[in-house]
Amino acid sequence: MFNWNDKSIKWFSDSANKTTFHKDIAKEIIPYLNNNDTLLSLGSGLGFLERQLSPYIKSMTLVDNNDKAITYLNAHKLDNQQIINISAQEINSSYDYLLLSFFSRMYIDDSYHIYQKMAKKKIFYLINERRCDVNQVFSYFDNKNIKYSYKKMKLEFNQVLQKNEITDFLDQYYSFASITKKQKLLDNLINIDDETVIFKNNKKIILIIIDLGDKEL
Ligand SMILES: C[S@@+](CC[C@H](N)C(=O)[O-])C[C@H]1O[C@@H](n2cnc3c(N)ncnc32)[C@H](O)[C@@H]1O
Repeated sequence: MFNWNDKSIKWFSDSANKTTFHKDIAKEIIPYLNNNDTLLSLGSGLGFLERQLSPYIKSMTLVDNNDKAITYLNAHKLDNQQIINISAQEINSSYDYLLLSFFSRMYIDDSYHIYQKMAKKKIFYLINERRCDVNQVFSYFDNKNIKYSYKKMKLEFNQVLQKNEITDFLDQYYSFASITKKQKLLDNLINIDDETVIFKNNKKIILIIIDLGDKEL
């Protein structure tokens, strides 16, 4: 279960600000957007991707049910953004686009029909290739005859850490990992100076673009 706290917010925003991770993903989504349209983002987290997309859209609604994420989103809110603190399941309106950025395992709990109702034109669905069975994801969409395209991307999301943060960082993000895996992660740290290391993180992600063919036409 994903949970934001002061440390994870600091780590995530540090990396997001120092890398082009969200800008590179936005570049792939922007060509599909129309600036008269609306976008709903579920499980927006800290909203880094949404802020990159904001200039290309009329209005966007960001939904999260974590109080700390909502506080961060409100502190960084742009003029065309509405921030809502509710559970995604409570949304019953429809928007032109739906963004699910590392949110939802619809291919496991078979919840596509819920998200499909929230979008008229396209669903932008981001998944982490290392955290799911990609064949299972594509089979799920294929079996439902869903029209989609996808783009695989390898993007850097390196983390600069103080040495005294390493244990907390591994507990936060790699609590599921075996001792061998954790040791491998420790062996790969790059020493910067006596106090600082870089945790190399090359994320393999897939952007899936589901085409709903504009239900309004
Ligand atoms: C893995 S994070 C992804 C955050 C962000 N979209 C990103 O790409 O960095 C999942 C987010 O979903 C939120 N979340 C989890 N369950 C939720 C729910 N039922 N309704 C709304 N938000 C939820 C969490 O608080 C967290 O911010």
